[in-house]
Amino acid sequence: MSVNEKTWKPKVVAFCCNWCSYAGADLAGSGRLAYPAEIKIIRVPCSCRVNPMFILRAFERGADGVIICGCHPGDCHYTSGNYYARRRMTMLFSMLDFLGIERGRTRVEWVSAAEGQKFANTMNEFAKTITELGENRKLGDLRCK
Ligand code: FES
Repeated sequence: MSVNEKTWKPKVVAFCCNWCSYAGADLAGSGRLAYPAEIKIIRVPCSCRVNPMFILRAFERGADGVIICGCHPGDCHYTSGNYYARRRMTMLFSMLDFLGIERGRTRVEWVSAAEGQKFANTMNEFAKTITELGENRKLGDLRCK
């Protein structure tokens, strides 16, 4: 194992909807629940704001994993945004399969504002999965390295 492999930490992007998951992340933070610092949270108004292109672009720019977190089905602040997000992500996942990007590198999770523990657990679990998968070499744009 080389020195780089030992020190390598995955780059993970987490899109969190403002009304539930971001508040869940906040709760995890105020409850001092630990999750990896490599998780970079991007707050979005709703999970349906996440255009599939954002995920492809994140991989292009060097992300090793991308997770989308939103309100539980039926609890979306905008009534049905998470249903749209879920459908879009299902389609995107089949495209990622086609591109050869491992299924484990993307995930959709529903986390409410009261689920700080679930948020921390999900992020720890996801970071572990990405660490096991290793660096993402697909879609990488060399200009972004
Ligand atoms: Fe949270 Fe729509 S507002 S998923």
